[in-house]
Amino acid sequence: MIYLTKRFTFAASHVLRNPSFSNEQNLETYGKCSWDNGHGHNYTLEVTVKGEVPEATGMIIDLKELKSTVNKKLVDKLDHKHLNYDVDFLRGVIPTAENIALKVWDELQKFLPEDMLYEIKLWETENNWVVYRGQ
Ligand code: NI
Repeated sequence: MIYLTKRFTFAASHVLRNPSFSNEQNLETYGKCSWDNGHGHNYTLEVTVKGEVPEATGMIIDLKELKSTVNKKLVDKLDHKHLNYDVDFLRGVIPTAENIALKVWDELQKFLPEDMLYEIKLWETENNWVVYRGQ
């Protein structure tokens, strides 16, 4: 089995608030990430797919194809957007790195070949990232 990773980047803003919390609870839970007007991050998303290497091509997936599909169907929906308001698949979700990763995984599963997605890694800053490998 071979694992292949492609890196994508996008810039987006968000605010972390639970609507059922008081202002004080939100501030206590999310700190300055709860401030009303939001703030931005330069996110990095690493998508790792897995597969056996076919003899004929020597490639488990066409990288050009992977790049254009993920950009068109996922990254373009996130880039230069406000994650609390602008992204259909994040509606009603507190856009922490954890939640974004869970939803991104579901989106990728919709268009990547079955059983191919192995792992996603979402970097919110160079010091914070989350890893998800499905259930
Ligand atoms: Ni933030």
